[in-house]
Amino acid sequence: MKFKSVQEIGDLYLNYFKSKGHVVVPSSSLIPAGDPTLLFTTAGMVQFKPLFTGAVELPYSKACSCQKCVRTTDLEVVGKTERHCTFFEMLGNFSFGDYFKKEAIEYALDFSLNHLEIPKDKIWVTIYLDDDEAKQIWMNTGIPEERIVRLGKKDNFWGPAGDSGACGPCSELYLDRGPEKGGPDCGTSGTCKPGCDCDRYLEYWNLVFNQFNQTVSGELLPLKQTGIDTGSGLERVAMLLQEVDSVYDTDELKNIITTIESLSGKTYDQSTKVNFRVITDHSRSVFFSIGDRIYPDRTGRGYVIRRLIRRASLFARTLGITEPFIYKLVDTLTGIYSKRYPELKERAKEIQSVIRKEEELFLNTLEVGLEELEHLLNQMKSKNETEVRGVDSFRLYSTYGFPREMTRELVLERGFSFNDSEFDAELDKDRDLSRASWKGKKTAYLTGITDTSKLKTEFTGYTQLNGTAKVQFLFKDGKQVNSLKAGEEGVILVDKSPFYAEGGGQLGDWGYIKIESSQFQVQDTQKENDSHLHLGLVLRGEIKLGDTVDLEVDSKRRQSLANHHSGTHLLNGALRRVLGSHVYQKGSVVSPDYLRFDFSHPASLTDEEIRKIEADVNGAVARGITVETEVLPIEQAKTSGALSMFDEKYGNLVRVVGMGDVSKEFCGGTHVSNTKEITYFAVLKESSPGAGNRRIEAICGDPVVDYFQSAFQVLAEKIQNYNLSAKDVYGDLKTHGILDKIPAPEEVQSLFETKKTSAVEYLREIKRKLEDSLSEKLSGLHKDKKKKEALSFSLNPELVEDLLSKVIKIGDIVIAKHSFDAVDAKSLKDLADSLKSREANILCLFASKEGETSTLVYMCNKVLVDKGVHCGNLLKNSLEILGGKGGGRPDMAQGGGKNPDQIDLALEAAMKEIQNKFGA
Ligand code: SER
Repeated sequence: MKFKSVQEIGDLYLNYFKSKGHVVVPSSSLIPAGDPTLLFTTAGMVQFKPLFTGAVELPYSKACSCQKCVRTTDLEVVGKTERHCTFFEMLGNFSFGDYFKKEAIEYALDFSLNHLEIPKDKIWVTIYLDDDEAKQIWMNTGIPEERIVRLGKKDNFWGPAGDSGACGPCSELYLDRGPEKGGPDCGTSGTCKPGCDCDRYLEYWNLVFNQFNQTVSGELLPLKQTGIDTGSGLERVAMLLQEVDSVYDTDELKNIITTIESLSGKTYDQSTKVNFRVITDHSRSVFFSIGDRIYPDRTGRGYVIRRLIRRASLFARTLGITEPFIYKLVDTLTGIYSKRYPELKERAKEIQSVIRKEEELFLNTLEVGLEELEHLLNQMKSKNETEVRGVDSFRLYSTYGFPREMTRELVLERGFSFNDSEFDAELDKDRDLSRASWKGKKTAYLTGITDTSKLKTEFTGYTQLNGTAKVQFLFKDGKQVNSLKAGEEGVILVDKSPFYAEGGGQLGDWGYIKIESSQFQVQDTQKENDSHLHLGLVLRGEIKLGDTVDLEVDSKRRQSLANHHSGTHLLNGALRRVLGSHVYQKGSVVSPDYLRFDFSHPASLTDEEIRKIEADVNGAVARGITVETEVLPIEQAKTSGALSMFDEKYGNLVRVVGMGDVSKEFCGGTHVSNTKEITYFAVLKESSPGAGNRRIEAICGDPVVDYFQSAFQVLAEKIQNYNLSAKDVYGDLKTHGILDKIPAPEEVQSLFETKKTSAVEYLREIKRKLEDSLSEKLSGLHKDKKKKEALSFSLNPELVEDLLSKVIKIGDIVIAKHSFDAVDAKSLKDLADSLKSREANILCLFASKEGETSTLVYMCNKVLVDKGVHCGNLLKNSLEILGGKGGGRPDMAQGGGKNPDQIDLALEAAMKEIQNKFGA
């Protein structure tokens, strides 16, 4: 076959479908827009999901794309096989109610034969079990019957991506790479065909015939319009055309492998293959994800990225690379991929620095963690134990930052088993107890120490994040000790420290205390009297009494704490300006992730008040006010107008933190030096903690961007659901498309970059307007749906015929008696009108029950009234049984009651009365 580079294949593909009238749509972000059920974009069709289900107006009816994708379902085998990747590019052509099976099949074959230049006799296809239509189409194109294989649901039914959306049977194209690629038995048994596990037949294109819309509950509803979704892995096609055995040997990936060789001085061979491939693959996922602004984090997408960086680091280490390394690949990656994704050029620097920081963070503990695991497994072996307990695997996670999945993989590789539920239990325990347990231990430390001269810690952390100090006391299990060794938890006291101890609502600092190669990880800092207690764990070596140690505060976390603390002061000022000077601080929490502020105010805040508060704070951030601190005698501080808290005790000297004319407060916390550092401020939630107070939860800095991105995602999903239901009621969608107004994640990001602090106000307004118009539309839809249902109920010809065919005659009176479920009185009346117009002598006795209530409607024409029928009187008797109220005229009566289970008796009572009066 003719060699074609990855770039050439991509170009050929998009040009081909363009020439067939498809719109070439750029790859969307790896963060799926409008689909909170999906962590990553996992297929080319993801960005088109609403177009398939019909939830939006169609901007075009056919499209093609080359989509960047991340799929981590097979993460653990990546590197160990020839073809698995967590990152890949997917070529696809799509039809939304335009062409269907026939054209999709013909395009795929034409492109394969005439553009990829694959010989026809090497192409095999699979179809879904009973899809005879697809089989016939393939045969018409000249693919012989013996090369068409039927496969089941696992292989040939695709989707949906995420919990819901378009899906359907599919048909796949395979390339026959010759008998020599088959397994040992494949040639002889005659069973080897597509579907066999060997390497002979490789799938390179999946054509999905979308016919169903799967709901979140798993129900398959017919799609309002059929569609085509095809996917062809770019790396996979390149592998076939370049006639290599692994995607890692195709031109672009090979280029990354060569870079790893030259940067590391290691050789890519049989023994290092897995390491090279893991690093190659994971570096691509991480590179593209951070390019789309997904940053390493503790949860969600960020956690996946963290895991990938750490797994790649582990594989680099076992290759003998002990320094941060993955970040070095960014230049090569940028060189390769900015051809297809030019925006990556501008992002390269940031991507590089994010990866590097994450690597440094992890490498710090990797070695010790691995040693600990080794030690543990050896111990277990000697005791003949086979299952690694949750406490142990969790310790690797909480102490050394080993992702659970990485530990599981390491443990399984060594032939031990891993207990997930125990790990989960430890995680829960940790969430509930971690802080409380430190606090519980705290008070016991310093009582009984006689040499109080050594107890006071000089705090240097207002201006410094590093420092050198002398170890004054060490504690283990609450008792004084002379040293703390690797693996031991304990507390360190030093004479001066840059670590902020929890106080004034601000959480304590984290970081490291080091001496030579010994390292203590500070996991919290607490205060007792004037002493700062550094609580944590020795990662390696030993810390001894009297040591001169280096202290290092986690600066990133500290910056987030400072952002949130200064943000709290600005919020306090803004509340007083917007709501009035009665606002008084009742309490606060300042964490690196968010701030919480409780204050006195009698009523919940309106949207407008929240908008003004945000605008006030963001205004102060934008002005870039210098933060000034001074230490003043308490009396002077009080007269300076600085805010303090009633129930807080202050010493003779107090620290006052001022931010221009917007804020002045008594405060011992750490702050930004200029309000600009806060970058953005947004309110997350307003509520009441009780007792006439209000509570605001808010965020500062980058989390604000994430917040708006995900809020719009959730809104988009709601709007899509609305659109789908609206279509059922109104048919035409043109009049109510509000989805287009939702900013996609990358738009939110760039709005922040261009509008800076005013982006919050701008986005808040968009969000509010969209939410308002959605809820207005939803309530309109609810009403119209009811109307439509009622109309279709009362005008339903089948129902009318059915009731007419079941009437009971008593004398001249024709009675239609029926008990319905959940039908309102208006619809019952409309239905009775329909019957009245069909049969002059009809008496309708209708009842309906819904929940705990029952409704009765009795109606007849004037001819029956003239004969002595009185609906009002009939109803009265029935209502006695139901214990309800109502009444009416001779020709029409309506009422309602409780006891829905007595409804049949109530109708029977009316029947009896008629029988008595008009019966023979
Ligand atoms: N969505 C299908 C797949 O991912 C075809 O694009 O295989």
